[in-house]
Amino acid sequence: MDTEHTEESEEFVLTRSRTANERLHDLIPGGAHTYAKGDDQYPENLAPVISHGRGAHVWDIDGNRYIEYGSGLRSVSLGHAHPRVIEAVRRQLDRGSNFVRPSIVEVEAGERFLATVPSAEMVKFAKNGSDVTTAAVRLARAVTGRPRVAICADHPFFSTDDWFIGTTPMSAGIPTATTELTVSFPYGDLAATEEMLTRHQDEVACLILEPATTHTEPPPGYLAGLRELADRHGCVLIFDEMITGLRWSEAGAQGLYGVVPDLSTFGKALGNGFAVSALAGRRELMERGGLRHSDDRVFLLSTTHGAETHSLAAAMAVQATYVEEGITAQLHALGERLAAGVREAAASMGVGDHVVVRGRHSNLVFATLDENRQPSQRYRTLFLRRLLAGGVLAPSFVVSSALSDADIDHTVDVVAQACAVYRKALDAGDPTPWLGGRPVKPVFRRLA
Ligand SMILES: Cc1ncc(COP(=O)(O)O)c(C=O)c1O
Repeated sequence: MDTEHTEESEEFVLTRSRTANERLHDLIPGGAHTYAKGDDQYPENLAPVISHGRGAHVWDIDGNRYIEYGSGLRSVSLGHAHPRVIEAVRRQLDRGSNFVRPSIVEVEAGERFLATVPSAEMVKFAKNGSDVTTAAVRLARAVTGRPRVAICADHPFFSTDDWFIGTTPMSAGIPTATTELTVSFPYGDLAATEEMLTRHQDEVACLILEPATTHTEPPPGYLAGLRELADRHGCVLIFDEMITGLRWSEAGAQGLYGVVPDLSTFGKALGNGFAVSALAGRRELMERGGLRHSDDRVFLLSTTHGAETHSLAAAMAVQATYVEEGITAQLHALGERLAAGVREAAASMGVGDHVVVRGRHSNLVFATLDENRQPSQRYRTLFLRRLLAGGVLAPSFVVSSALSDADIDHTVDVVAQACAVYRKALDAGDPTPWLGGRPVKPVFRRLA
């Protein structure tokens, strides 16, 4: 059953989702398995609980259909239940998922990965992005013998592990001794990074950053400059390609910009929703996690489920689909159409300076700014309410290749209606009447 989405969000209610959200909170701390999926990220009582998805669409348990953006926290970049991926997974399911010895699927998945990301020489698979960024950090510490990790301060997330979470406002439970070993550097500023490396001379094991993402393009020469800086200071350069992998190019941002990191980490889109991540990098470093050297061994990655055959099959199918069907280019084209439409809609409704689309076309986000052009969770709440009521589930505007031009055009229509309400609220100088309850909240905050 598809329920009609009414124009006034006040009439748009999610009775079953509301009850299920309460039950989720009774059962599961946070009511979700990723904080970014939490109902605190959505307007009060308008956090749909999903029944199922197909392509770019999802259905909630109240029977509403939505056009979805940022599917699977950016992991489902080909759309839900993608036929090529599902077929590859099904084939593998019948042959067993996990054995007492490596399966031949691991050879095939390794070869496929390194053919797609030729700047890497070895690869090791795991389940989550955090597993592989933490493995990269440990390896960097082991090979350099240095204690400190330098993270890019402008990037929101690297790992669920202590070396990163200790630096966020949710640092409860993490000893300061651990957090003190993590230092930071600003994106795009080589001089400041050099100053940090000099201040902690011979102590910094690695520089870890997303090669791009929050910035659409790295400043000219930046990544090459960072490469040179890392070499000069003897630290390992790690690109976290969780988001840029596949979305920038099939070979990630390193493939697009031609700067080769020592180590890089992939996940998210790699499995199109199946759990698979990868640590990739230079042989000389990666071999330290292996058996063919005489140095101290590094416990690099060793997980029960790391080589789950159907997830590796998913990764191979995803990479083949990207390369053979030109998916990265499709993502850019869809995003370009969406960004242009949203910008035009916002401008025509007089909120062009307030509803602001940013980012690379394959990875669009939006900002909601108040009367003073400051980021506003209250205006975000208003905006999300109107999108949801229009059948658009969009915590970001990150596209999947399953979106059709008609989906994009419908999204733009809904955005235009949302912008008309946004203008009313700006004129009133107060969005409160349009919030329907408490505002949405940032993921990282100290108090619940
Ligand atoms: C840039 C980046 N690195 C690492 C991670 C962690 O990945 P996972 O949630 O799979 O552990 C994320 C997840 O959002 C991410 O965006």
